[in-house]
Amino acid sequence: MSLALRAQLLLFLISLSSRMGLSRCLDMLATDGFFTFVASRPQLACAAFIIAEPSEVISLELSDVSIDCSAGDFIKMFDGWVLKGEKFPSSRDHQLPLHQRYTDYCSSPAPGSTSRSSQNVAMIFFRVHSPDSRFTLAVKKLHNPFPCNIMSQSPEGSFTMVIPHQRRNCSFSIIYPVEIRLTELSLGQAKSNELSPQRQVWSGCSGSGDYVELLGGNGVDTSQMFPVADLCFSLSGLAQMKIGCDNSVVRLVSSGNYINRVSFQYRLLEHNELPKTRENSLDNFCSVE
Ligand SMILES: *[C@@H]1O[C@H](CO)[C@@H](O)[C@H](O)[C@H]1NC(C)=O
Repeated sequence: MSLALRAQLLLFLISLSSRMGLSRCLDMLATDGFFTFVASRPQLACAAFIIAEPSEVISLELSDVSIDCSAGDFIKMFDGWVLKGEKFPSSRDHQLPLHQRYTDYCSSPAPGSTSRSSQNVAMIFFRVHSPDSRFTLAVKKLHNPFPCNIMSQSPEGSFTMVIPHQRRNCSFSIIYPVEIRLTELSLGQAKSNELSPQRQVWSGCSGSGDYVELLGGNGVDTSQMFPVADLCFSLSGLAQMKIGCDNSVVRLVSSGNYINRVSFQYRLLEHNELPKTRENSLDNFCSVE
Protein backbone atom coordinates (compact mmCIF):
# COMPACT_ATOMS: atom_id res chain seq x y z
CA MET A 1 0.00 0.00 0.00
CA SER A 2 1.38 3.40 -0.90
CA LEU A 3 2.16 5.91 1.80
CA ALA A 4 -0.49 8.30 0.50
CA LEU A 5 -3.14 5.63 0.61
CA ARG A 6 -2.14 4.56 4.09
CA ALA A 7 -2.39 8.16 5.25
CA GLN A 8 -5.78 8.54 3.59
CA LEU A 9 -7.13 5.39 5.20
CA LEU A 10 -5.73 6.38 8.59
CA LEU A 11 -7.33 9.81 8.36
CA PHE A 12 -10.61 8.17 7.56
CA LEU A 13 -10.28 5.87 10.55
CA ILE A 14 -9.37 8.77 12.81
CA SER A 15 -12.40 10.73 11.68
CA LEU A 16 -14.62 7.77 12.46
CA SER A 17 -12.99 6.75 15.71
CA SER A 18 -12.55 10.18 17.24
CA ARG A 19 -16.27 9.94 17.93
CA MET A 20 -15.48 7.06 20.25
CA GLY A 21 -12.64 8.81 22.02
CA LEU A 22 -9.89 6.93 20.25
CA SER A 23 -8.04 9.90 18.91
CA ARG A 24 -4.58 9.35 20.32
CA CYS A 25 -2.08 6.62 19.63
CA LEU A 26 -4.01 5.34 16.67
CA ASP A 27 -2.04 3.62 13.98
CA MET A 28 -2.45 1.70 10.78
CA LEU A 29 -0.10 -1.15 9.91
CA ALA A 30 0.04 -2.54 6.42
CA THR A 31 3.40 -4.30 6.41
CA ASP A 32 4.92 -7.36 8.02
CA GLY A 33 7.41 -6.82 10.79
CA PHE A 34 8.03 -6.16 14.46
CA PHE A 35 6.47 -3.07 15.99
CA THR A 36 7.46 -1.91 19.44
CA PHE A 37 5.15 0.39 21.39
CA VAL A 38 6.70 2.33 24.25
CA ALA A 39 4.42 4.54 26.31
CA SER A 40 5.78 7.95 27.17
CA ARG A 41 2.78 8.73 29.37
CA PRO A 42 -0.44 6.96 30.35
CA GLN A 43 -2.26 6.01 27.16
CA LEU A 44 -5.78 4.96 27.85
CA ALA A 45 -7.35 4.31 24.47
CA CYS A 46 -4.95 3.11 21.81
CA ALA A 47 -5.50 0.95 18.79
CA ALA A 48 -3.70 -0.22 15.70
CA PHE A 49 -5.63 -1.30 12.62
CA ILE A 50 -3.83 -3.94 10.60
CA ILE A 51 -4.60 -4.67 6.97
CA ALA A 52 -3.16 -7.17 4.48
CA GLU A 53 -3.83 -8.02 0.85
CA PRO A 54 -7.26 -9.57 0.10
CA SER A 55 -5.80 -13.08 -0.21
CA GLU A 56 -3.95 -12.94 3.09
CA VAL A 57 -4.75 -13.44 6.75
CA ILE A 58 -2.78 -11.91 9.59
CA SER A 59 -0.90 -13.56 12.41
CA LEU A 60 -0.14 -11.44 15.48
CA GLU A 61 2.22 -12.31 18.28
CA LEU A 62 3.08 -10.30 21.39
CA SER A 63 6.51 -10.44 23.02
CA ASP A 64 8.59 -8.48 25.53
CA VAL A 65 5.41 -7.35 27.22
CA SER A 66 5.82 -5.07 30.18
CA ILE A 67 2.38 -3.90 31.34
CA ASP A 68 0.54 -4.17 34.65
CA CYS A 69 -2.66 -6.12 34.15
CA SER A 70 -3.52 -5.80 37.86
CA ALA A 71 -3.52 -1.99 37.50
CA GLY A 72 -6.04 -2.10 34.66
CA ASP A 73 -3.64 -2.19 31.75
CA PHE A 74 -4.69 -4.42 28.89
CA ILE A 75 -3.76 -5.58 25.42
CA LYS A 76 -6.45 -7.23 23.32
CA MET A 77 -6.28 -8.52 19.79
CA PHE A 78 -9.38 -8.77 17.63
CA ASP A 79 -10.13 -10.93 14.59
CA GLY A 80 -11.49 -8.08 12.43
CA TRP A 81 -11.93 -4.35 12.86
CA VAL A 82 -14.11 -2.46 15.32
CA LEU A 83 -15.11 1.07 14.35
CA LYS A 84 -17.75 3.17 16.10
CA GLY A 85 -18.75 0.02 17.98
CA GLU A 86 -19.47 -1.80 14.73
CA LYS A 87 -17.56 -4.89 13.71
CA PHE A 88 -16.20 -6.10 10.41
CA PRO A 89 -16.84 -8.84 9.51
CA SER A 90 -20.33 -8.63 10.96
CA SER A 91 -21.04 -11.17 13.72
CA ARG A 92 -23.64 -12.53 11.33
CA ASP A 93 -21.01 -13.39 8.70
CA HIS A 94 -18.07 -14.50 10.84
CA GLN A 95 -17.60 -18.20 11.45
CA LEU A 96 -16.49 -17.73 15.07
CA PRO A 97 -18.70 -16.51 17.91
CA LEU A 98 -17.79 -12.98 18.99
CA HIS A 99 -16.01 -13.91 22.24
CA GLN A 100 -13.65 -16.21 20.35
CA ARG A 101 -12.57 -13.34 18.12
CA TYR A 102 -10.91 -11.55 21.05
CA THR A 103 -7.54 -12.59 22.46
CA ASP A 104 -6.85 -10.98 25.81
CA TYR A 105 -3.29 -10.82 27.05
CA CYS A 106 -4.48 -10.11 30.59
CA SER A 107 -7.23 -12.67 30.83
CA SER A 108 -6.83 -15.28 33.46
CA PRO A 109 -6.77 -18.24 33.49
CA ALA A 110 -5.97 -18.34 29.77
CA PRO A 111 -3.93 -15.33 28.72
CA GLY A 112 -3.30 -15.16 25.00
CA SER A 113 -0.36 -13.68 23.19
CA THR A 114 -0.98 -14.93 19.66
CA SER A 115 -3.90 -14.42 17.34
CA ARG A 116 -4.67 -15.42 13.77
CA SER A 117 -7.26 -13.48 11.80
CA SER A 118 -9.87 -15.07 9.55
CA GLN A 119 -9.61 -12.32 6.90
CA ASN A 120 -7.28 -9.54 5.75
CA VAL A 121 -7.95 -7.25 8.70
CA ALA A 122 -7.20 -7.48 12.40
CA MET A 123 -6.64 -5.02 15.21
CA ILE A 124 -5.05 -4.55 18.58
CA PHE A 125 -6.35 -2.36 21.42
CA PHE A 126 -4.35 -1.42 24.45
CA ARG A 127 -4.40 0.70 27.57
CA VAL A 128 -1.36 1.37 29.70
CA HIS A 129 -1.15 3.57 32.77
CA SER A 130 2.51 3.76 33.61
CA PRO A 131 5.11 5.42 31.39
CA ASP A 132 7.71 2.94 30.17
CA SER A 133 5.09 0.28 29.62
CA ARG A 134 6.00 -1.49 26.43
CA PHE A 135 5.42 -4.45 24.17
CA THR A 136 6.43 -5.74 20.77
CA LEU A 137 3.94 -6.93 18.17
CA ALA A 138 5.06 -9.26 15.40
CA VAL A 139 2.83 -9.00 12.32
CA LYS A 140 3.03 -11.77 9.74
CA LYS A 141 0.87 -12.31 6.69
CA LEU A 142 -0.16 -15.77 5.56
CA HIS A 143 -1.74 -16.87 2.29
CA ASN A 144 -5.49 -17.48 2.32
CA PRO A 145 -6.65 -19.58 -0.65
CA PHE A 146 -10.39 -18.80 -0.17
CA PRO A 147 -10.73 -15.24 1.01
CA CYS A 148 -14.18 -14.44 2.38
CA ASN A 149 -14.87 -11.06 3.99
CA ILE A 150 -12.36 -8.61 2.68
CA MET A 151 -11.65 -4.96 3.41
CA SER A 152 -10.24 -3.18 0.39
CA GLN A 153 -7.05 -1.22 0.97
CA SER A 154 -7.78 1.04 -1.92
CA PRO A 155 -10.75 3.01 -3.35
CA GLU A 156 -10.19 1.46 -6.74
CA GLY A 157 -9.45 -1.96 -8.07
CA SER A 158 -11.13 -5.17 -9.09
CA PHE A 159 -11.82 -8.46 -7.41
CA THR A 160 -13.34 -11.89 -7.99
CA MET A 161 -15.03 -13.56 -5.05
CA VAL A 162 -15.72 -17.29 -5.21
CA ILE A 163 -17.70 -19.40 -2.75
CA PRO A 164 -17.28 -23.06 -3.71
CA HIS A 165 -20.10 -25.23 -2.32
CA GLN A 166 -20.08 -23.57 1.06
CA ARG A 167 -23.05 -22.32 3.01
CA ARG A 168 -21.66 -18.96 3.97
CA ASN A 169 -21.87 -15.31 3.06
CA CYS A 170 -18.88 -13.20 2.14
CA SER A 171 -18.56 -9.42 1.92
CA PHE A 172 -16.10 -7.24 0.09
CA SER A 173 -16.06 -3.87 1.81
CA ILE A 174 -14.74 -0.63 0.34
CA ILE A 175 -14.70 2.18 2.90
CA TYR A 176 -15.09 4.90 0.33
CA PRO A 177 -17.97 6.16 -1.83
CA VAL A 178 -17.50 4.29 -5.09
CA GLU A 179 -19.01 3.22 -8.37
CA ILE A 180 -19.16 -0.56 -8.60
CA ARG A 181 -19.35 -2.37 -11.93
CA LEU A 182 -20.22 -6.04 -11.89
CA THR A 183 -18.41 -7.61 -14.79
CA GLU A 184 -19.33 -11.24 -14.25
CA LEU A 185 -21.76 -13.11 -12.07
CA SER A 186 -22.27 -16.81 -12.04
CA LEU A 187 -24.74 -18.33 -9.61
CA GLY A 188 -26.11 -21.85 -9.40
CA GLN A 189 -29.65 -20.92 -10.30
CA ALA A 190 -29.83 -18.78 -13.37
CA LYS A 191 -33.17 -17.00 -13.43
CA SER A 192 -33.91 -14.06 -15.64
CA ASN A 193 -31.86 -11.37 -17.14
CA GLU A 194 -32.52 -8.00 -15.68
CA LEU A 195 -31.11 -5.84 -12.95
CA SER A 196 -33.53 -5.09 -10.17
CA PRO A 197 -32.69 -1.99 -8.19
CA GLN A 198 -34.42 -1.46 -4.85
CA ARG A 199 -35.51 -4.51 -2.97
CA GLN A 200 -38.62 -2.68 -1.73
CA VAL A 201 -40.39 -2.66 -5.10
CA TRP A 202 -39.63 -6.26 -5.87
CA SER A 203 -39.76 -9.29 -3.65
CA GLY A 204 -36.02 -9.54 -4.15
CA CYS A 205 -33.63 -12.41 -4.28
CA SER A 206 -33.89 -13.68 -0.73
CA GLY A 207 -36.22 -16.46 -1.91
CA SER A 208 -33.47 -17.87 -4.08
CA GLY A 209 -30.71 -19.05 -1.78
CA ASP A 210 -27.89 -17.61 -3.86
CA TYR A 211 -27.53 -13.98 -4.78
CA VAL A 212 -25.38 -10.89 -4.70
CA GLU A 213 -26.37 -7.78 -2.81
CA LEU A 214 -24.86 -4.34 -3.04
CA LEU A 215 -25.02 -2.51 0.26
CA GLY A 216 -24.33 1.06 1.30
CA GLY A 217 -24.00 2.60 4.74
CA ASN A 218 -21.93 4.71 7.04
CA GLY A 219 -20.56 2.04 9.38
CA VAL A 220 -18.64 -1.21 8.89
CA ASP A 221 -21.18 -3.82 10.06
CA THR A 222 -22.79 -5.16 6.90
CA SER A 223 -25.89 -6.26 8.82
CA GLN A 224 -26.58 -2.57 9.62
CA MET A 225 -26.24 -1.42 6.01
CA PHE A 226 -28.92 -0.65 3.44
CA PRO A 227 -29.55 -2.76 0.33
CA VAL A 228 -28.88 -0.83 -2.85
CA ALA A 229 -29.52 -3.69 -5.29
CA ASP A 230 -29.95 -7.46 -5.40
CA LEU A 231 -28.88 -9.67 -8.25
CA CYS A 232 -29.93 -13.28 -8.38
CA PHE A 233 -29.35 -14.32 -11.96
CA SER A 234 -26.22 -15.05 -13.87
CA LEU A 235 -25.07 -12.20 -15.99
CA SER A 236 -22.22 -11.37 -18.22
CA GLY A 237 -22.62 -7.77 -19.09
CA LEU A 238 -22.46 -4.64 -17.14
CA ALA A 239 -24.42 -3.80 -14.08
CA GLN A 240 -23.17 -0.66 -12.46
CA MET A 241 -24.16 1.38 -9.48
CA LYS A 242 -22.89 4.44 -7.65
CA ILE A 243 -22.95 4.20 -3.88
CA GLY A 244 -22.34 7.56 -2.24
CA CYS A 245 -21.77 6.20 1.26
CA ASP A 246 -18.76 5.95 3.57
CA ASN A 247 -18.84 2.19 3.06
CA SER A 248 -19.85 0.25 -0.05
CA VAL A 249 -20.16 -3.53 0.03
CA VAL A 250 -20.55 -6.40 -2.43
CA ARG A 251 -22.03 -9.33 -0.48
CA LEU A 252 -22.32 -12.82 -1.91
CA VAL A 253 -24.94 -15.00 -0.25
CA SER A 254 -24.39 -18.68 -0.81
CA SER A 255 -26.56 -21.70 -0.01
CA GLY A 256 -23.74 -24.20 -0.39
CA ASN A 257 -25.44 -25.95 -3.32
CA TYR A 258 -23.43 -24.26 -6.03
CA ILE A 259 -20.14 -22.69 -6.90
CA ASN A 260 -20.87 -18.97 -6.89
CA ARG A 261 -18.63 -16.38 -8.37
CA VAL A 262 -18.80 -12.63 -8.78
CA SER A 263 -16.30 -10.27 -10.42
CA PHE A 264 -16.40 -6.51 -10.12
CA GLN A 265 -14.45 -3.32 -10.58
CA TYR A 266 -14.71 -0.20 -8.47
CA ARG A 267 -13.54 3.39 -8.54
CA LEU A 268 -13.76 6.35 -6.19
CA LEU A 269 -16.65 8.75 -6.86
CA GLU A 270 -15.62 12.25 -7.84
CA HIS A 271 -16.67 15.05 -5.56
CA ASN A 272 -19.44 16.20 -7.93
CA GLU A 273 -20.87 12.67 -8.04
CA LEU A 274 -21.51 12.55 -4.31
CA PRO A 275 -25.04 13.02 -3.03
CA LYS A 276 -25.71 16.67 -2.17
CA THR A 277 -27.14 16.11 1.27
CA ARG A 278 -25.65 13.35 3.32
CA GLU A 279 -28.25 13.09 6.03
CA ASN A 280 -28.37 9.66 7.46
CA SER A 281 -32.06 8.96 7.06
CA LEU A 282 -33.84 6.21 5.21
CA ASP A 283 -35.57 8.67 2.85
CA ASN A 284 -32.34 10.35 2.03
CA PHE A 285 -30.19 7.34 1.66
CA CYS A 286 -26.64 7.67 0.39
CA SER A 287 -27.31 5.95 -2.93
CA VAL A 288 -27.01 8.38 -5.81
CA GLU A 289 -28.25 6.37 -8.73
C1 LIG B 1 -26.52 -15.79 4.62
O1 LIG B 1 -27.35 -14.66 4.52
C2 LIG B 1 -28.72 -14.95 4.35
C3 LIG B 1 -29.46 -13.64 4.12
O2 LIG B 1 -28.90 -12.58 4.86
C4 LIG B 1 -29.22 -15.71 5.57
O3 LIG B 1 -30.58 -16.05 5.39
C5 LIG B 1 -28.39 -16.98 5.74
O4 LIG B 1 -28.79 -17.65 6.93
C6 LIG B 1 -26.91 -16.63 5.84
N1 LIG B 1 -26.12 -17.85 5.86
C7 LIG B 1 -25.24 -18.10 6.82
C8 LIG B 1 -24.49 -19.39 6.72
O5 LIG B 1 -25.03 -17.32 7.73
